[in-house]
Amino acid sequence: MMIILLLYLTMEKNNDLQNIQKLIGHFSKHDQKYQCVILELPIIETIFSSDRKSNNNPIYGNLDELWSNILSAITETGSLWIIADDYYNNEKLTKFSFNIASHLKKNGFLLRNMIIWYNLQKQSRDLLTRYRTIIFCAKNMNYRFNLDLVREPHIWKDYEWGGGRRSRYNPKGKNPSNLWIKTKSKKGKILEHLPLSTEEVLERCFLLSAKKGEDVFVSVKDGTSLKSFEKKIGISCDTIKLHYPDGMDQSLTKRTTSLNHVKNSTVNKIFNKSSENMKEIKNNSVQLIITSPPYWGLRNYQTTNQIGFSDTYEEYLDRLEAVWSECYRTLSKSGSLWINIGKRIIKENMLLLADGVAERAEKVGFILKDIIIWHKPVSVPTSGKANFTDRYEHVLFFTKDKRNYYLNREIKDQINDYLDGPLPNLLNVWRIHRRIGNIGKKIMVSKAGKKIEHTAIYPDELVRRIIELCSQKNDLVVDPFTGSGTTVSTANKLGRKWIGYELNTSYNELISWRLKSDVIV
Ligand SMILES: C[S@@+](CC[C@H](N)C(=O)[O-])C[C@H]1O[C@@H](n2cnc3c(N)ncnc32)[C@H](O)[C@@H]1O
Repeated sequence: MMIILLLYLTMEKNNDLQNIQKLIGHFSKHDQKYQCVILELPIIETIFSSDRKSNNNPIYGNLDELWSNILSAITETGSLWIIADDYYNNEKLTKFSFNIASHLKKNGFLLRNMIIWYNLQKQSRDLLTRYRTIIFCAKNMNYRFNLDLVREPHIWKDYEWGGGRRSRYNPKGKNPSNLWIKTKSKKGKILEHLPLSTEEVLERCFLLSAKKGEDVFVSVKDGTSLKSFEKKIGISCDTIKLHYPDGMDQSLTKRTTSLNHVKNSTVNKIFNKSSENMKEIKNNSVQLIITSPPYWGLRNYQTTNQIGFSDTYEEYLDRLEAVWSECYRTLSKSGSLWINIGKRIIKENMLLLADGVAERAEKVGFILKDIIIWHKPVSVPTSGKANFTDRYEHVLFFTKDKRNYYLNREIKDQINDYLDGPLPNLLNVWRIHRRIGNIGKKIMVSKAGKKIEHTAIYPDELVRRIIELCSQKNDLVVDPFTGSGTTVSTANKLGRKWIGYELNTSYNELISWRLKSDVIV
């Protein structure tokens, strides 16, 4: 048994190395310049899985060489599209797409976006995997981006573009978003959601970045789709055959989930102090932590000691690590931590805050179980003409124990986000409208003539799902970055106990109002 396993692992290692060396060889021909390179990356099991920073791994150096060869093989206006899947092995998720994206950045590419391709994947983690990631990179800011060729149809002009947003209505269609899914609709009502085929994905990448007559390289597992794409567009792509392993994801092991209800005296309270120290909460007494930390360097929450606003990126991550460490201490063995975080473009490069945040949570001992995509179907096109409109945020799901954590899959019937056939299980893509924030109204209360508002609010529905999935009545739910109180007010309505930490005392009014009110955000 042992010998077979070792043989298998060695074979996989060789395949990884052979794949990369084949690609290196192909892209070392310097006379060839590609306008567009589309590459479905076989899962490279041997890299990044243990210590991604280790230089002892022979594949690591090879990958550096590959990116450098591709960088020189792309024209000045060209781009690189990489399809990369995260994989679930030994009961934990390896964030392969983030790792590859940050490696590409390190090797001189501009990371412009991470596209979520809503996809009928077969793998099952706790939640059914329904997306693949497409990493979109350019050589420099002169890259071609023919957005008019891939605009998305408006669902209903007056429905989506009413009120103040009418001035942004473009008769040619909506700016393409970074969550790829097609819809069939009638008079503002979506009738069907249609996942894109591989052929359609290739077509989109091509239309965005290249024209007929220009050189294009494509290597994907599904050779038939490549052929039909070439026929449809009337081009012939350079390609090479790679070895794609059969699905890396492991099936789920049965868990024993026993909940240990722990008594905690300090509950239903907000502490106006930094969550870097949560000494008010006893060890192992919390069932669930749901939070959205401040983004790095974005909003000023008007308090001294706030995390993120004037910290360097390293300081920001260090301080968050202190919070995750407190979360680890206070969570019970069957508990879980859910972190909602987005991404930012800094100096033309996309910064994946979720990558750094996940790394630090793993460092304190958490196990990454899944990365859920919160799909925001409607949002303002803020990213300009050279990028996709941002329509999703990441929600990282961690547990303390590999197997014995509480997850109630029975709530699946209440969730039906996509109209694409019967749902066999809970998905890891959640389509939830944002009622508050850049597309909705602001939430605001007045006190002594002073208006108090919060603009970085996540929806009650996002929190409701997590609470019902991972806790039971009377369990303790904690939010280390309470803000306007979405987590604590939803927990309260669902009969859970709660504790919140929030530095800015002026939000206390808002939180008390939300605890009493029926308004849903
Ligand atoms: C993104 S907001 C949270 C919004 C919340 N999820 C909601 O729905 O209203 C982050 C919050 O963290 C608070 N904050 C920043 N640094 C903090 C710290 N060290 N300890 C506790 N709260 C902090 C900010 O004041 C801000 O209200």
